[in-house]
Amino acid sequence: MTTKALIIPAAGVGSRMQKDTPKPFLQLGNSTILEQTIRRFLPLDGLQQVLVATSESFLEKAENVLEEVLPPQIKGRCLVGGKTRQESIYNALQKVSETDLVIVHDAVRPFVKLRHIQHCCNTAEQYGGAVLGVPAKDTIKRIDEQQIIKETPSRKFLWQTQTPQVFQKDLLVRAYQQAIKDNFVGTDDASLVERLGETVKMVKGDRSNFKITYPLDLELAELLIKKDK
Ligand code: C5P
Repeated sequence: MTTKALIIPAAGVGSRMQKDTPKPFLQLGNSTILEQTIRRFLPLDGLQQVLVATSESFLEKAENVLEEVLPPQIKGRCLVGGKTRQESIYNALQKVSETDLVIVHDAVRPFVKLRHIQHCCNTAEQYGGAVLGVPAKDTIKRIDEQQIIKETPSRKFLWQTQTPQVFQKDLLVRAYQQAIKDNFVGTDDASLVERLGETVKMVKGDRSNFKITYPLDLELAELLIKKDK
C-alpha cells in the first residue's frame, strides 16, 4: 500500500463569491466547506498526513477543523499560504514528510467521491501523475484581447480539469522547484509537471465534483447537502 499526504489549498480570498469569509470557511450543512472536503479523504488507505494552507487570520480556525476531524493516526498541520494557489501549495509541500504520493485537492470541492480519489492514486502510482476531470460539455473557443475568436479546438480532446491531482512526491517537488526557477505560474499542479515532459494521466470523474466558486455554486451545494441527508 502506498503512503499518502493530502495538501488542501484554502488560502484564496474568494472575491468571486462576494462574501467576507473565504469560501472554505463558509457553512455548508452542519459544518464548514473545508471540514466536509477533508472528511471525504479520511477512509483513504495509507493517508498519513493532511496539510491545510490558509491565510494567517484563518489559521486557528483551520487548526480547530483538523483537530475535530482527524483520527490519531493521521497527522494534521496548518500553514500560511501564499498570493497564488501555486505558492500556497509550494509552502505546504515544504512541510510534507516522507511519503509515496502527494494528493492536492481544492478546499472548495466537497463532493469528491472516494472511488475517484482511489482511482487517481492508483493511476499516479503507475504513471507518475493523475488528475480527475470530465469531458468538456461546451464548445471551447480561444479568443484574443478583443474577444475575437481565434480558434475552436476539437472538443473530442478537451477536458475540464478538477482535483484531486495526485503525483509521486519526488516528481511534484521537482516540478515546483523548476516552476520557481523559471518564474512559471500555472493554474493547476499538472501543468507544472507537464512542462517537465513527464506523464500525467486524466482520470474520468463526474460533474458533482464542481468547485464552489460563484454564489450559484453555493446554492447548488446547499441543495446537494440537504439531499444527502
Ligand atoms: O482561485 P481558485 O478557485 O483556483 O482556488 C482553488 C483553491 O485554491 C481554493 O481552495 C482556494 O482557497 C485555494 N487558493 C489558495 N491560495 C491562493 C489562492 C487560492 O490556497 N492564493
